[in-house]
This record gives sequence, C-alpha cells and structure tokens, in this order.
Amino acid sequence: MRELLLEWCNADPEDAFAAAEAARGLDDEMLALAGRMHRSIADDMGGRLWLRWPKPAADGSGPERFLGLYAVLEAVPLMLDFHRGIGVGEAYSRILLHDVGEKLRLNRTMYGRPGLDVAFWFTAHVRGTIYQLGRLQFCIEGTAAAPRMGLHIRGEGGPLTPEAVRSSVAQALEFFPARFPELFGPDEPMSFMCSSWLLDPQLRDWLPERSNILKFGELFDLVGPATYVNAGGHDDIWRFVFARTPDTPMEELPTANTLQKSVMAGLKAGVAFQTRLGGLNLERLGP
Ligand SMILES: CC(C)(COP(=O)(O)OP(=O)(O)OC[C@H]1O[C@@H](n2cnc3c(N)ncnc32)[C@H](O)[C@@H]1OP(=O)(O)O)[C@@H](O)C(=O)NCCC(=O)NCCS
Repeated sequence: MRELLLEWCNADPEDAFAAAEAARGLDDEMLALAGRMHRSIADDMGGRLWLRWPKPAADGSGPERFLGLYAVLEAVPLMLDFHRGIGVGEAYSRILLHDVGEKLRLNRTMYGRPGLDVAFWFTAHVRGTIYQLGRLQFCIEGTAAAPRMGLHIRGEGGPLTPEAVRSSVAQALEFFPARFPELFGPDEPMSFMCSSWLLDPQLRDWLPERSNILKFGELFDLVGPATYVNAGGHDDIWRFVFARTPDTPMEELPTANTLQKSVMAGLKAGVAFQTRLGGLNLERLGP
C-alpha cells in the first residue's frame, strides 16, 4: 500500500505511512465494510458518476478514516485493466492517481491529521469514467442518451491559465470520441459543463483583474439559479479557498495568499459566495 501511495499516487510519506499503519487496526466489521465498498466498484466498472459511499465521521481518528482509500487502492488493478481495454496508456492512469496524493494532503491541512474524507470522489477514477488531460479533469456525466463532459479542476497542477484550459479541452475533444465512440459520435458536438465556486460572478468584485479564476469564469454561460449559501457555496469556499472544514469560524480562516485575502474581504462585506453551474462556450475559448 505504501508503494502504491508513494509511487503511483504521489502521496506524501506522512500520509502513506499513516494509511498503512492504520490498516493494522482494522477489525472484522471494518474489513467487511471495506470489502463491500471495493465490490461496489468492481461490480460497476465503466459505470457513470460517483458511488454513494458513507463519509467517515469528521472527528474520527481510527482506521475508519481510511476505509474508502483502501477500497479505492484495491481497485487500482481493475482501473488499469479498464484503461488498457480502451487504449488508455499507463501515463494517463498514473497522472490520474496523483489526485489521491493531493486529496490526502488537503485532508491533512483541513483536519490537522491524515485521512481521506472524499474517498467517494475516486470511485469515478477507478471505474474509468474520469480522466486528467493536461490541467483539467473530465468526467463523463449527463445521461447515456445525452452524455456530456463534466469539467473538474484540481488544486495542484499550476495556474489555471486560459492557455492551459484551451489545451486541455482540445485534448478532450480528441480523447473521448476515440475511447468512447459509443457515447461521443462524430455528429454530436461535445458539451462541457462545470459546477464550481470558480464560476461565481460575485468574485469579479473581489479578485484582481488579472486573475485566472475570473478569466476561467468568463468562458462559461451560467445555467439555472444560484445554489444559495450553505447549499454548496459556503462549504466549497471553505474547502477550496481556505482548506478548512465548513464549521470553521470565519475569524479563524487563514489569509495567507491573494486569493484568501480577496475572498475574505468579500466575506467580511457580507457576500454569500455561491456554487454556479455553467456551460463552456467553445467559441469564446477559441481554437
Ligand atoms: C483553481 C486554481 C488552480 C486557480 O489558481 P490561479 O490560476 O492561481 O488563480 P488566480 O490567477 O485567479 O489567482 C489569483 C491569486 O490568488 C492566488 N491563488 C489562487 N489560488 C490559490 C491557492 N489555492 N493557494 C494559494 N494562492 C492561490 C494566485 O497565486 C494569485 O495570486 P497573485 O495574483 O498574487 O499571483 C486555484 O484557485 C486552486 O488551486 N483552487 C483549488 C481547487 C479548486 O478550487 N477546484 C475547483 C473545485 S469546484
């Protein structure tokens, strides 16, 4: 497990050692649950979206905080087989797994100790429905009759420049029709959707004009009403901007970088930042 975490998932040694050490404390009940979680992946290879897994208790300090991780890691060989079967090379599989190391780091910053609170997120990775192409991740979403690409943005991987977005989307336009011709035929233009705090137009009032986040937001046509505060916006801002749990009081949020300082100025002014859904405007993105 340590080797898989260190060499394939780009995990920090602290997280890899903690996960391996905690596995020694698994009792029969936990092993059975991890086994059921693994089977839910194995029985649904190629399935869409994410599996609904229980979230570990926020204050848990035992091995249960890694249960989902164990199930995901056990499924890595299944993922590699699936990738090989559709002609996806090992380099893609490896870069995809780096997300595990990132989320372990984020978890440690958020909770002050190792664990993985979002193991369910990786049920898309190991079932073969999400891929990282350049800076962005693309997940097959929508329905079988009307599939569309969900666009996701890791924290690690450098600035979210318009050039990086353009390059990733160009890769996706080739990658998915080649690997999933039954979903993305030549006659149907691919559509890209994104649901994120990054698309909140209110950020324009607070982030500097040069901000990549603002340039990213401008590439999307917003869809539907805003999800209101506490229905996503709050939690996502706390997680992605401040790397803190949703119950952290505002006055305890860090203001160490430009993004945190800018968003904090908005919060202090009473802004309820929101998670917004948008469709990528390919014309605006440009070739
Ligand atoms: C999305 C992301 C990569 C954009 O980063 P970016 O390209 O640097 O974005 P911007 O140019 O708008 O950043 C504005 C400023 O905030 C800083 N900044 C942005 N995100 C930062 C982060 N996570 N940590 C530290 N500083 C950050 C930038 O360095 C920049 O500062 P500067 O102008 O002094 O150089 C970054 O915000 C991030 O890592 N977010 C976490 C992942 C996430 O939110 N995913 C979407 C989930 S729905």
